Amino acid sequence: MTRPAPRRTALAAAASLALAALLAAAVPAAASSSAAPSAAVLAAPDIPIANVKTHLTQLQSIATANGGNRAHGKAGYKASIDYVKAKLDAAGFTTALQTFTSSGATGYNLIADWPGGDTSQVLMSGSHLDSVTAGPGINDNGSGSAAILETALAVSRAAFQPAKHLRFAWWGAEELGMVGSKYYVNQLATADRAKIAGYLNFDMIGSPNPGYFVYDDDPTIEQTFKDYYAGISIPTEIETEGDGRSDHAPFKSAGIPVGGLFSGADYTKTAAQAQKWGGTSGQAFDRCYHASCDTSANINDTALDRSSDAIAYAVWSLSAATTPPPTGTVFENTTDVAVPDNGAAVTSSVAVAGRTGNAPSTLKVGVDIKHTYRGDLVVDLLAPDGSAYRLKNSSSGDSADNVIATYTVNASSEAANGTWKLRVQDIAAQDTGYIDSWKLTF
Ligand code: TRP
Ligand code: ZN
Ligand code: CA
Repeated sequence: MTRPAPRRTALAAAASLALAALLAAAVPAAASSSAAPSAAVLAAPDIPIANVKTHLTQLQSIATANGGNRAHGKAGYKASIDYVKAKLDAAGFTTALQTFTSSGATGYNLIADWPGGDTSQVLMSGSHLDSVTAGPGINDNGSGSAAILETALAVSRAAFQPAKHLRFAWWGAEELGMVGSKYYVNQLATADRAKIAGYLNFDMIGSPNPGYFVYDDDPTIEQTFKDYYAGISIPTEIETEGDGRSDHAPFKSAGIPVGGLFSGADYTKTAAQAQKWGGTSGQAFDRCYHASCDTSANINDTALDRSSDAIAYAVWSLSAATTPPPTGTVFENTTDVAVPDNGAAVTSSVAVAGRTGNAPSTLKVGVDIKHTYRGDLVVDLLAPDGSAYRLKNSSSGDSADNVIATYTVNASSEAANGTWKLRVQDIAAQDTGYIDSWKLTF
């Protein structure tokens, strides 16, 4: 009934660890189009955290070279704007520098439009790029600025063609009372304000002792962020650390639907929050808030990574076609996920959006799992509500490699939209593998 269980040698264990490390290090491939019969709607890309961190390193260098800050009216602010603008111009965005005056100094907003989409429905994402004078402002708010920059660059790399028109903004003089974003909203003609379908704000999203807070504003935007975090099993809380303390406030005042993310400033993490999110209770989410120590060391990479991916997910989902994509659309995740040997189940998510009603009775589930002994594997499809559909049982005698198959599932009792998951568990010791990719065809 069982195959002989060879004793694991230290060498085998080391080799297996090396494989896991290799898999972890592999740059996750962006979801890519497969042989779809029609325009494929793909999962939002995984934003490369290394790129986001490169932008933060550059902002830190700019501060260091300019008296230690990137504050309104200082050379470090304009140098930050120039850095961001050059990246966007090279990626094909239409950029505009908007100037205003505050406290006797010239301030700048940078507005970047991605050509295409319905310009009467604009989805806007913004972050303030200025720091306080006390320090370089890497969490507040290099973090949001770098994450939306990398999201914009991902839009360009994907040659994304959303139904809505995408606009990104980097605000000046937020630290002086949201001066730049107020100026932008005030100077917009009433007709142009009405075209902004939503504004997403990102201010402090890589706090060193992070929380995962979602703004409690427009319900659709809020739910979109919550869906993303539910998909990666991270609990969220409603943002309460000073509602209206950032650049979404002027948009909200103008009647524009707003939302956003926040990882905490000078409030203290409670024991309950440390329990669910890790980190240190009794300590501020960001002990360097508005201080000279808000440097590139003042970032939690995991929080920054999750926030960046959540931004991409929201930008992709909220700008997608409002008409259902045609039948035969492929929703795919090509990011590798290691399956631990004889261990816990792992999952890979695919977000389905823009469909109406339930999934089909002949839902096609394409699975590509690389493994050295496929009999070890139990594979299930999880619907958005968590219902499990068994695709494959383990079978101790099946020593062949890999599970590369298309399964047909009667999913007609499941809502089509939401986060679907492939769950894979390896239930026998020795052989290992990984989820290479999987897809749903609706
Ligand atoms: N830049 C904001 C500020 O200095 C940071 C902040 C504090 C914040 N509380 C917030 C941002 C709540 C968003 C939501 O005030
Ligand atoms: Zn601030
Ligand atoms: Ca195994």
